[in-house]
Amino acid sequence: MTAPALKEENPFPSSTEISIDFSKIAKQLENGYEKPFLILDSEIVRNKARRFKEAMPRVFPHFAVKSNPDPRVLRILIEEGVGFEIASIAELDLLLDLGVPASEIYYSNPVKSRHFIEYAAEKGVEWYVLDSIEELRKIVGVKPDARLYLRIDTPNIGSDWPLGGKFGAYADEAEEIVIEAARLKADLAGVTFHVGSQCRNPENWRIGIRRAKEVFESMKSKGLDPRLLNIGGGYPVQHMKPIPSIEMIGDVVNESIADLPESVRIMAEPGRYLVSDAGCFVCRVVGTATRAGKRWMYWDAGLFGGVIETSEGLRYRIDTDRHGAPIPWTVAGPTCDSVDILMREELFPEDMQEGDFIYIRNAGAYTTAYASNFNGFPLPDVIVL
Ligand SMILES: Cc1ncc(COP(=O)(O)O)c(C=O)c1O
Repeated sequence: MTAPALKEENPFPSSTEISIDFSKIAKQLENGYEKPFLILDSEIVRNKARRFKEAMPRVFPHFAVKSNPDPRVLRILIEEGVGFEIASIAELDLLLDLGVPASEIYYSNPVKSRHFIEYAAEKGVEWYVLDSIEELRKIVGVKPDARLYLRIDTPNIGSDWPLGGKFGAYADEAEEIVIEAARLKADLAGVTFHVGSQCRNPENWRIGIRRAKEVFESMKSKGLDPRLLNIGGGYPVQHMKPIPSIEMIGDVVNESIADLPESVRIMAEPGRYLVSDAGCFVCRVVGTATRAGKRWMYWDAGLFGGVIETSEGLRYRIDTDRHGAPIPWTVAGPTCDSVDILMREELFPEDMQEGDFIYIRNAGAYTTAYASNFNGFPLPDVIVL
């Protein structure tokens, strides 16, 4: 009787996802502990890059630098033949310093400051995203020959970190942007979308690609020359909920792009997928307390120290060295800010104590990249093996 229930809970055929081996974390701790750190296994980053390419042979991966801008990680990805997408000129400088040609860098932040566009143009960046008429005019005003791609709205259903709403032109707005680009004789040459981060629903890509093709038709009818499809980021990694494998997502993408001519370059912007599994974020319990009958635990890394994604409901696999019976704990960060609460009523062993280590698995993305010195707490270390 249990088998059908299990099947319903996990709609995806199981796939083997590889995480950093725990012995590597234990070995690192033998050197002592000063402050929270992220430890990354570079072999896993390499494997993920290769697996992504095999799952979607026609799709060029461009790493989303924001997910982990550590230069050692970027170097590994350069060696694996991965391109890049950036959100700012600081990310651009980081890549240029590592010798990445500006022509391989896509500027995918939909609203950029004029100064940032001028700087990127001067450095040789060719491709710029937009999702409004204002941004179209701004970019063309700075760089009339810019190659442009239009970010359209797409469903974010089933994504643990939705990105819809803030960016992405709706169909009628996209049409107006296409008309204006044709009038300005701008080189609007591509379409992009983002299905939401940690997207567990491959159908979002199918819909995004279908909508992109509709925009291509509109572009052609107005004399524009569409030649870039950018299917964005969102490829999930294993945390607590079931995920479709990259191969499953690849099946949907490959089928959806099969009728696109060779003249269309197809790219993606994976962030999380390439780096999360390689990393484990290690921090420590600084204190425990009972408040109104409830157990509280305070870690030395909270929302401001790198563990921010729990605030939107993302649930990591978290290990400890304790084996007590699980009881509900509220977990907070070390700062004095009342928003610095990571999880409420989450199950952890009842015998958790000051000094215990916390091992947050598959945390190579969007952890250290978010960390700040708020309240004087140190930034986490990054160790790349
Ligand atoms: C424009 C853009 N591309 C790609 C990504 C990477 O997304 P993910 O890490 O979910 O693959 C992001 C993440 O916010 C993004 O904003």
